[in-house]
Amino acid sequence: MEEPRTHWDRVYKTKSETEVSWYQRRPDLSLALIRSAAPDLATPILDVGGGASTLVDELLLTGYTDLTVLDISSAALACSKARLTTKVEKVAWIVTDITAWDPSRVWGLWHDRAVFHFLTLPAQQDAYVATLEKATAKEASIIMATFAPDGPERCSGLPVQRYSPQSLAARLGAKFELVREAAEQHVTPGGARQSFAYSVFKRR
Ligand SMILES: C[S@@+](CC[C@H](N)C(=O)[O-])C[C@H]1O[C@@H](n2cnc3c(N)ncnc32)[C@H](O)[C@@H]1O
Repeated sequence: MEEPRTHWDRVYKTKSETEVSWYQRRPDLSLALIRSAAPDLATPILDVGGGASTLVDELLLTGYTDLTVLDISSAALACSKARLTTKVEKVAWIVTDITAWDPSRVWGLWHDRAVFHFLTLPAQQDAYVATLEKATAKEASIIMATFAPDGPERCSGLPVQRYSPQSLAARLGAKFELVREAAEQHVTPGGARQSFAYSVFKRR
């Protein structure tokens, strides 16, 4: 089987950032949930698997000052860096596999849209949760969006694990309290509808 990094680098090298199925012109729901969970613009924010998303652009425009974008694909981050031009230095960029990462600091808000659901093996999920625990402070907010139970079974040609906010809460464990949930029908650039479940957790 192809290595995940090889897969994702190929995707971002062969498709433009507006052609991928998960493209959003503006990630409005993520932005609204982040603004509500972290009104303090100094809150350290980590976008896990941020890819080429424009979330970082919008967070900079909003005035957040401590932003990190992490992705397994350097090609993905290259798209965002090229788009941001001179603002690129205001952001910390990390190329790593989230399941094999040892974070060196903590963040006050962790955001993940459509990354955790690719981890279909319990060992990968356990590694992600262990990193989440290590990289977040007490009272930190965690915003995760996955395909919902009635969402697609695959994304980018890969199988996914679908979650409701409740089944995601059960998977993350007792350290994370589910405080808010939201549903979104994402429309892909090709016009397909995909059911997403957004969950907001508070780190106990
Ligand atoms: C479906 S895309 C979503 C991108 C972005 N979050 C968005 O909403 O536009 C999944 C992203 O997760 C990244 N990714 C996949 N597996 C990863 C892993 N194990 N560690 C870090 N990033 C990963 C991919 O490179 C890709 O950018």
